[in-house]
Amino acid sequence: MIPLDEPVVGDREIETLTDCIRSGWLSWQGPYVAELERLAARYAGVEHAVSVSSGTSALLLAVRALGIGPGAEVIVPTLTFSACIWAITLHGAVPVFADCTPGRFEIDPAAVAARITPRTRAVLAVHLYGYPADMDAIVALAHRHGCAVIEDAAQAFGARYKDRPVGSLADVACLSFHNKLMATGEGGMVLTSDAGLARRVAELRAPSPDNRAADRAVLNHRLSNLAAAVGVAQIERLDAVVTAKRALAAAYTEALAGSSLATVPELDGRRGAWWRCPVLTSPHTPVSRDRLIARLAERGIAARGVFHPMHRHPACEDRTPFPHADDLSARGLEVPSSARLTPDDARRIAHVLRAAADG
Ligand SMILES: Cc1ncc(COP(=O)(O)O)c(C=O)c1O
Repeated sequence: MIPLDEPVVGDREIETLTDCIRSGWLSWQGPYVAELERLAARYAGVEHAVSVSSGTSALLLAVRALGIGPGAEVIVPTLTFSACIWAITLHGAVPVFADCTPGRFEIDPAAVAARITPRTRAVLAVHLYGYPADMDAIVALAHRHGCAVIEDAAQAFGARYKDRPVGSLADVACLSFHNKLMATGEGGMVLTSDAGLARRVAELRAPSPDNRAADRAVLNHRLSNLAAAVGVAQIERLDAVVTAKRALAAAYTEALAGSSLATVPELDGRRGAWWRCPVLTSPHTPVSRDRLIARLAERGIAARGVFHPMHRHPACEDRTPFPHADDLSARGLEVPSSARLTPDDARRIAHVLRAAADG
């Protein structure tokens, strides 16, 4: 079976991990943690990076550090990973869903504008599948209303927006290292150029050892030195991984041209990281999206439907129409996107995709 995605790891990861184990520093106090924070901040062009144990932790701490709690509303795309929503609801705040741009995975700034109220405290923009959201429009709009902007760059570290790195485009950004553009087993990072916010995230990251911290209910969200050691090797190969994924996506795009299937094109000024390449079926595709996924599995190719919109989740159901998210969610599938694959592999997979879609 050709998997959807596999991390690229090699000699450098073995070297840093071995060095970490030999040093005896396995926990968060080890030097690889600080080194990974330094490298991530430098890569994104921000002042501060605070490592955490997952992307979910990064979101939870970013929301909490912004002081978002009961009564506050946070505007978030309905088409996203569920952790974005739980990071809001776990603080007693209310997720307010926004639709995506027609035929595209990014949150629509016009939809955000339509949902701002006096209770809105933040907008959480997600660079889904590695496509950068329209951050200039979102940040200008949010700041005009006195709201903070959080970037969820979990699927997009290495992408660029108007030649600026994703992760540097808002008040605070969140990364995940769980089989994303970087893989450390589990892990994540909060990025910001706001020193106060960075300090607050660091304070909220783990209970204080002297039991005297002012905050109540602080849990442990620390990244281990073991994971950070792998992360240092991974960030060194980040550009190569993004280049490989972009080449795969270009090969899929070209090989699907003229069929009833298509990738979502990049917009001018945005250089996606193409974490997973989403392919869209169309009304002309002879088989359903789910049948297509089943046929690919029979032919040894892993694929799965794109994210399910969160306005349909029983815990946060919203009957407002979100037609564009519903449309993409019904038509989209993720196809193998590992940076280990070559453009020739993508052309072969696209050939099977076309045949499977044709009946
Ligand atoms: C967009 C997005 N945000 C956040 C997360 C959470 O990251 P983690 O799995 O590291 O908790 C994910 C994970 O898939 C994600 O895709």
